[in-house]
Amino acid sequence: MILVTGGAGFIGGNFILDWLAESDEPVLNLDALTYAGNLETLATVEDDPRYVFVQGDICEHELLGGLFAKYRPRAIVHFAAESHVDRSIHGPGDFVRTNVEGSFALLEAARAYWNTLGEAERTSFRFHHVSTDEVFGSLQAEDAPFAETNPYLPNSPYAASKAASDHMARAWFHTYGLPVLTTNCSNNYGPYQFLEKLIPLTIVNALAGKALPVYGDGLNVRDWLYVGDHCRAIRSVLAHGRPGETYNVGGGCEKTNIDIVRAICGLLDQLWPDAGGRYERLVTFVADRPGHDRRYAIDARKIEQELGWRPAESFESGLRKTVQWYLANPKWVADVQSGAYRAWVDRQYSGAAVA
Ligand code: NAD
Ligand code: DAU
Repeated sequence: MILVTGGAGFIGGNFILDWLAESDEPVLNLDALTYAGNLETLATVEDDPRYVFVQGDICEHELLGGLFAKYRPRAIVHFAAESHVDRSIHGPGDFVRTNVEGSFALLEAARAYWNTLGEAERTSFRFHHVSTDEVFGSLQAEDAPFAETNPYLPNSPYAASKAASDHMARAWFHTYGLPVLTTNCSNNYGPYQFLEKLIPLTIVNALAGKALPVYGDGLNVRDWLYVGDHCRAIRSVLAHGRPGETYNVGGGCEKTNIDIVRAICGLLDQLWPDAGGRYERLVTFVADRPGHDRRYAIDARKIEQELGWRPAESFESGLRKTVQWYLANPKWVADVQSGAYRAWVDRQYSGAAVA
């Protein structure tokens, strides 16, 4: 079987659903169920004999040792993290704990287990570390997209904590020979994304007739990738990637934030027209994120040329599917809108609008 950490989150949940649809290999999902973890995402597989869920923290060394001994995974796909940049600005401690200390604990538990394996199993074992393009910092308009060889220049506490985990993953390969693979991916979007991120926040606020907050001038650029394409990239690297290598994954789809918000408004005007008028009337420019990176863009030629991976979904088709998914799943949305999430929204968006 494979061990997935953070499988109750957005990308991990999509990964497990896709994995069980594509393969017969069982999955052990280890997730602490923080505010971002949601087992409803996995409701369709909870009784599947190939699926095992354990609620637990990747920082707990003893728990990890027991799980490795009991389930003997042939690979780990490590998603578990604190993932929201704005939260990292308000409270970086949780990010250091899970992303740095938790990744350290997992690497050490994996290494101890891997050392007990026979030669063939040691060779085929994989530790896949799921990381982000944010470790490379911010691009100017004229800069080339991030290649795997770009220097690490993390700017937010989140990015710094992910960079630290990437460095450890690299060191565990070079020093101990643990067969580590790392992917650095751009912004994902799609079904089951927690409502604090730009695309689901915009959809859900628009449907509720609430302001659509756009930070600063709205001209920050992100490179958007449909989550199913990210999951396919991970499966491909896990199966065919070279241990010790890193692979950048992106959609080749650079968009400003204001263009994203307008595209969502346009789709909602078609799919769920509002008697009050066009959704774009709700766009509200608000104070910028401190240290807000201006532009991310990925050069994905390495994974394309070595592994033949390419995004299957266009931005137009992926965004339409995503908006349709949120429209079709009001219960999932309502259940996420817990007291804890409301408290975050009150804190993050309490300041006056800038324009
Ligand atoms: P998410 O916040 O939606 O989910 C994170 C999951 O990890 C949750 O289920 C949470 O309960 C779990 N978790 C948190 N702390 C834990 C701990 N200490 N022990 C066990 N489980 C814990 O995150 P996501 O957006 O799905 O991102 C998954 C991974 O992909 C992260 O490592 C992130 O850095 C990376 N990534 C995300 C994106 C993106 O656009 N969302 C892009 C590139 C890379
Ligand atoms: O680049 C990959 C990263 O993408 C991942 O590593 C992170 O885990 C993931 O959260 C995402 O980070 P971003 O900060 O880019 O995503 P977010 O959805 O928070 O914001 C996208 C852009 O939209 C960013 O420029 C900030 C802006 N924004 C965001 C929110 C929540 C707004 O303008 N208004 C908002 O209310």
